[in-house]
Amino acid sequence: MKKIKGNILVVDDEKSMREILEIFLKSEGYTVSVAENGEKAIEAVKKDIFDLIITDMKMPKVSGLELLKNVKQITPCTAVVIITAFGTTESAVEAMKLGAYDYIQKPFQMVDIRLVVKNAIEKQKLQKDVSILKQQLKPPSLENIIGKSQSMQTLFSIISKTAESNASVLIIGESGTGKELVAKAIHSLSPRKDNHFVAINCAAIPEGLLESELFGHMKGAFTGAASNKQGLFEVANEGTLFLDEIGEMPMSLQAKLLRVIEGGTFRRVGGVSDLNVDVRIISATNKNLQDLIELQKFREDLYFRLNVLSVKIPPLRERRDDIPLLVAHFLEKFSGNKKRFSKEAIELLKNYQWKGNVRELENITERMILLCDSEVIDVEHLPDEISSVSKAEKVVVPAGGMDIEMLMENTEKAYLLKALEKTNGVKTEAAKLLNLTFRSLRHKLKKYGIDKKIITD
Ligand SMILES: Nc1ncnc2c1ncn2[C@@H]1O[C@H](COP(=O)(O)OP(=O)(O)OP(=O)(O)O)[C@@H](O)[C@H]1O
Ligand SMILES: [Mg+2]
Repeated sequence: MKKIKGNILVVDDEKSMREILEIFLKSEGYTVSVAENGEKAIEAVKKDIFDLIITDMKMPKVSGLELLKNVKQITPCTAVVIITAFGTTESAVEAMKLGAYDYIQKPFQMVDIRLVVKNAIEKQKLQKDVSILKQQLKPPSLENIIGKSQSMQTLFSIISKTAESNASVLIIGESGTGKELVAKAIHSLSPRKDNHFVAINCAAIPEGLLESELFGHMKGAFTGAASNKQGLFEVANEGTLFLDEIGEMPMSLQAKLLRVIEGGTFRRVGGVSDLNVDVRIISATNKNLQDLIELQKFREDLYFRLNVLSVKIPPLRERRDDIPLLVAHFLEKFSGNKKRFSKEAIELLKNYQWKGNVRELENITERMILLCDSEVIDVEHLPDEISSVSKAEKVVVPAGGMDIEMLMENTEKAYLLKALEKTNGVKTEAAKLLNLTFRSLRHKLKKYGIDKKIITD
């Protein structure tokens, strides 16, 4: 597949100069196009996205400065280097003010060109997306994924094996199990680790924008396309693209995704030519894609392409022994180990259902650290839904037997009365407190003959 070191446009009205630069830059491994004047350069800029434009300053009609102004409007992410005649520092300064990356004075040596071009392309690539940079500051590896249970050990060895390969990976796991963490770990252990890891949540982006996010667009391709923009496939070239919540991808885009996975080619929205990229796809889902295929909401051929390697992350409730370790990890993260959980509290955390998995555990740990003043976080500090398990554990079934229906009714009645007392008899408020609908509250009050005593509604 084609490796794009950098896409450069050389603009000069002097043929020999164009040729020298073209030959030299091609020999350096760049993709090079040429334009013989400013007008042709502007046309080219409308059709393709360049990482860098090297332009002569003095050209008939459209000067280098004019071209620079146009480029900044059409494709602001493109770097521009201006070649000026010896001694014309003033216009060089003006070019810099207008946003040129650098200027080179004639006559120049090829080493000068080499350095300026290398720096311009590197800087331009870095600037592409600050969020990508942030993601790369702390590359997660296996050490960041906590878990000693057998199922996590198996997961670690699958991650390591998966990282060696170049095949597409589908990560399957409930919400909050660590799908993104695993995707990042696969990338940072893979030979692509020095290139971008780019993540996109297919569910978070409106259908109409997803295509241009993924594949880029040309200025004017649709209302709101104010300038040319590269898509994430280009940004992730030679790296990894993480497609989160892939089950939410609209059918119309699934065909385009299939095409880029199969052949590495795609087209920007409003673009005229096909582009080639080398991107590894990792996708993730908390839905059952097979079900979506049955419902004709997901293409089966795409499913097979995405699911060459599959990684299943077990839910937290199936690896409860990892909970104390995870808690210790989060205590260190959020309190620098200044606080700890009591043994009893940890036991309760281990027994809880954790529908939101590790994310829920992380959030609760953080909240407890913030809310609890004492050094030891105990059972009473835990949210009711977790500590209520302990109340249930304390119940005793009397040897002589009991009437559970009656007990439940009495308990229900007691809570109804308490809620009404708290809300001064306002039923709507009481219903809210008990997480009941108004109708259901009214029904229960009637059942227990409580409603006659209540005056306010
Ligand atoms: N095994 C783990 N060790 C340490 N932290 C974890 C682990 N699993 C998940 N986390 C943490 O839990 C949070 C949720 O993880 P992540 O975003 O990777 O989950 P997800 O499966 O992508 O969730 P969602 O389905 O909600 O997108 C993150 O803050 C992550 O760091
Ligand atoms: Mg996620």
